[in-house]
Amino acid sequence: MPSAVLNTALCETLGCRFPIIQTAMGWVATPELVAGTCNGGGFGFLAAATSRPEQAEADIEKVKNLTDKPFGVNFLMEQPGAAAIVDSIIRHGAKAASYSRSPNKDFIQKFKDAGILCVPTVGAARHAEKAVELGADMIVAQGGEGGGHTGSVPTSLLLPQVVAAVEVPVVAAGGFHSGQGLVAALAYGAVGIAMGTRFLLTKESPVPEDTAKRYFAASVMDVPITTQVDGLPQRVVRNELVQELEASNSATLLIRALRSALEYRKMTGASISELLSAAFSMQKNDKLTRAQMIMAANAPILIRRAMVEGVPSEGVLPSGQVTGLIEDQPSCEELLSRIMSEAEEALARLR
Ligand SMILES: Cc1cc2nc3c(=O)[nH]c(=O)nc-3n(C[C@H](O)[C@H](O)[C@H](O)COP(=O)(O)O)c2cc1C
Repeated sequence: MPSAVLNTALCETLGCRFPIIQTAMGWVATPELVAGTCNGGGFGFLAAATSRPEQAEADIEKVKNLTDKPFGVNFLMEQPGAAAIVDSIIRHGAKAASYSRSPNKDFIQKFKDAGILCVPTVGAARHAEKAVELGADMIVAQGGEGGGHTGSVPTSLLLPQVVAAVEVPVVAAGGFHSGQGLVAALAYGAVGIAMGTRFLLTKESPVPEDTAKRYFAASVMDVPITTQVDGLPQRVVRNELVQELEASNSATLLIRALRSALEYRKMTGASISELLSAAFSMQKNDKLTRAQMIMAANAPILIRRAMVEGVPSEGVLPSGQVTGLIEDQPSCEELLSRIMSEAEEALARLR
């Protein structure tokens, strides 16, 4: 039984034993990883931002077959087929939905009516305020050291700002891997931590061995932010592809983006009009330039090359800087119980 201070509002609200969330990661947060997290005492979010509705539906069913614990689903509100994914989330009674860019008021209202918790991720205090205005029940505040799309404010500065800005519970993300980090986050006023990269390197993670090796080999200095993948700041492990993208001129980038767009269309089966409507909604909500909009299909296609096809030199490896501190590949259950023991020790030391 964890100390009372570790049994936070996160545990009560999301229905898990430990105040630890496994965040969604495209191609990585599979039903196996989510179930491993939930069965181990944490709360897992299934990745559906890179899925077609049929795939999301099948994955949600699979999670339910692998665990009887509550879980969440992550998606992009502007992705092709988003409305059908919302229906699946509601029909299957997921506990929570997570999203980040372009919140859609109608979808949020549907979740509220169905009693599904809205848990968006933000990278700035003003975005947290806006998300709460739109109906967020809990906020994940991700500092700039975090993996994937990320902001520029480090967790140590963002977290107190967000905690001060909103009344709803705040979960700290970006750079966490240990019980000491959990205790620090609680000291800042968070109700728990959310981790991506640390869960990417667990036994239940589907990441192919050659790709995992790149994460283990990277130091905290080898995980820069680049805007050359899809036009938005994204933290990734530096590899051959990222170096090539950084050195490319705009014509070469455009050709690559068009190739990705064609492949994305083939992969998702989405119609041209679905893709255009997703792209225009992103452009409107995120104020993207035309070049950024054209590059949007790059991310899912290039991440899949590393995460599913196992070719790390030709794909994108989104990662938090914390990968530089990770040295082992425990099961989710081992990881979660280790973090809880470390947190208990840290608390005892402080007392
Ligand atoms: C491989 C990878 C893929 C990601 N994909 C998504 C995604 O599909 N949706 C999303 O909201 N966040 C995504 N993220 C961000 C994570 O959910 C999380 O917020 C971030 O990893 C937290 O920082 P950390 O890596 O330092 O723990 C991704 C991160 C990684 C490392």
